[in-house]
Amino acid sequence: MERIEITGGRTLAGRVRPACAKNSVLPLLAATLLCREPCTLCGVPDLADVQTSLQLLASVGAAVERRGPDLCTAPRPVRGLVPDPLAAAMRASVFYLAPLLLRAGRVELPLPGGCRLGPRPIDIHLDGLAAMGATVRTLPDRVVVQRRGALHAVDYTLRLPSVGATLTLLMAAACARGFTTLRGAACEPEIADVAAFLNAAGARIAGAGTPVLTIRGVGGLLPGGARHTPLPDRIAAATYAAAVAAAGGQVTVEGCRPAYLGAFLQFLRRAGCRVEAGQDGFTVARDPDRPLQGGVDLRTGAWPGFATDTAPLAAAVLLGAEGASRIHDALFQNRFACAAGFAAMGARVRARGRDLWLAGSDRLQGTLVTAPDLRGGAALVIAGLFAEGSSTVLDPGHIRRGYADLPGELRQLGAACRPAPARAPKAVQYG
Ligand code: EPZ
Repeated sequence: MERIEITGGRTLAGRVRPACAKNSVLPLLAATLLCREPCTLCGVPDLADVQTSLQLLASVGAAVERRGPDLCTAPRPVRGLVPDPLAAAMRASVFYLAPLLLRAGRVELPLPGGCRLGPRPIDIHLDGLAAMGATVRTLPDRVVVQRRGALHAVDYTLRLPSVGATLTLLMAAACARGFTTLRGAACEPEIADVAAFLNAAGARIAGAGTPVLTIRGVGGLLPGGARHTPLPDRIAAATYAAAVAAAGGQVTVEGCRPAYLGAFLQFLRRAGCRVEAGQDGFTVARDPDRPLQGGVDLRTGAWPGFATDTAPLAAAVLLGAEGASRIHDALFQNRFACAAGFAAMGARVRARGRDLWLAGSDRLQGTLVTAPDLRGGAALVIAGLFAEGSSTVLDPGHIRRGYADLPGELRQLGAACRPAPARAPKAVQYG
């Protein structure tokens, strides 16, 4: 169990550049299996979910290697069987459904794992693939999907704008035979990023970033490969912005367009932070002697709404803000498991279903808390930045799934925050 130790009370200052987006890199790694030529993904951070993806690719027989900051793949025949522990380690294992189906003709995928944010079905992924002619068998702990010949085009409407399902069906349609239309698709920036990669490898996708995607399938694997730099991680950028909003100070985030996290920056402005948006970055400043303004009723939604992954980050900012607030997560039932950690620090919060209620104006006391999931863990670290005294965030591995070195990135900005070595179990004295 990793431990992050924080001493609160320091303001932040400096500049930080988010790494490439986890939620782009993970589907992109799966998408390389669709390419007949080698691919290179540039500047890929060393995240736990990236390591899991490399193990998953190797386990199915794919050739992938890290060359410094880049990941390089080469086409090879693969087996369509994903090992259970790798599938269970992350939600992103679902992105291998379409590529393995298309490359191997059959895929057996144990149900994906990842953050326990509530039920996370994959019915839209499977329903869309079936509409394209795949045979889908759902077993209690896995799915088996097969095809005979090429998938065929379809005019398909997603029952909700699922990011993952949009990516699955986009990858399948790119290699199906004929002209596919996907309606009600997700519009998150990561969709357009993956579409750009697929187009560079020979796909013909239009409309990425809008609810209607049109794809002229090539009737097999994509003819080319691609060298691609994934877009910056907007959720990591929001994490640094939330940290300086909570702790006070001034931080400039570089290499990330403000529009990628527009709703979150608008929230920070409304709370009383000074936010200056540039072309390729932004600055967030907050006077530590002036309390933030809460009294908000936030509701998450699909892009360009308030991103669900930033909801715990907004909560950490609102703990000390004046005025009671509520945050409703429309996407996940259990987004606010981090409320237990906030309460342990003395915050007056209540999580009920999809809602988190915050009294605001709380003065937190540092203590020992446990990260319940990736973004909840990051939110607890942020709370520790402005809690009095020292906090320890026990992390069973969630935070490293999405941040290569969150303690180091915050320390670089002046925070007293460091990973403590996992303690060896206490020697038991016998006799
Ligand atoms: C992706 O998850 C991200 N994960 C999540 O980030 C992010 O919170 C989410 O998109 C929404 O933006 C990765 O990209 C690896 P969804 P995903 O499919 O694709 C329901 C993080 O912290 N649904 O858009 O799983 C689902 O239950 C992670 O980085 C179905 O009902 O999200 C949820 O309620 C957390 N059937 C809603 O849709 C399906 O077939 C949104 O899920 C698929 C989804």
